[in-house]
Amino acid sequence: GMRVKLAAGNWKMNGTRAALAEIDTLVAAHGDAAIEILICPPATLLAPMAERIGTAKIALGGQTCHPQASGAHTGDISAEMLADAGATHVILGHSERRADHGESDDTVRAQARAALAAGLTCIICVGETEAQRDAANTLDIISGQLAGSIPDLSTGESLIVAYEPVWAIGTGRTPTLDQIGEVHDYIRAELERRFGAGVGRSVRLLYGGSVKPGNAAEIFAVSNVDGALVGGASLKASDFGGIIDAL
Ligand code: G3H
Repeated sequence: GMRVKLAAGNWKMNGTRAALAEIDTLVAAHGDAAIEILICPPATLLAPMAERIGTAKIALGGQTCHPQASGAHTGDISAEMLADAGATHVILGHSERRADHGESDDTVRAQARAALAAGLTCIICVGETEAQRDAANTLDIISGQLAGSIPDLSTGESLIVAYEPVWAIGTGRTPTLDQIGEVHDYIRAELERRFGAGVGRSVRLLYGGSVKPGNAAEIFAVSNVDGALVGGASLKASDFGGIIDAL
């Protein structure tokens, strides 16, 4: 298909300059990969990482951004600042942001508008809790998050959707391949319904939640899975490299 596969690493609140050595390893082994590789480090590492990556084909992203471009918002970072530090992407609406910082679908949509205005590609995260899955509400939850969190779009390339079941994040548990396929097919259908087939089919869909070198290949073979958003296994270049090799 036309969608380029993407291996995205979310370092979350991990990494100091000592971890830049992992980037050197990644550049040496995968700096000219045919798929896209993205690292989303803590904001403090964006600029030194960009310098370290140089002309290699590894992209950088932020982990959130503020809806406003600047102003009196102590501790926050704007989309323009991320771009200035070397980011081309930003993760928005991760379940940890939704839970720890009370980010609602409205907040995420406003952040996404700001990110698009700054020229960043948005990775918008959706996913059900275990209680919601047990109550057979998964697709309703996903539908509401997609409708509420995604702003109007002019191109599908500026949006990536990550399906991350909350109960699979950092737990070592993953949905069955059928469950992943069901949700990804549903997200694709929802995007095509809202944006039309052209835009809807060009949005990439990532699976996230306990992806490791050992389970990556079978997950990547599922329909409408265009790559992964990887947490823990993205911190070591050797583990992340195994996932890249599986795409
Ligand atoms: O953004 C990444 C996800 O939250 C997945 O994290 O790979 O450590 O389960 P994990």
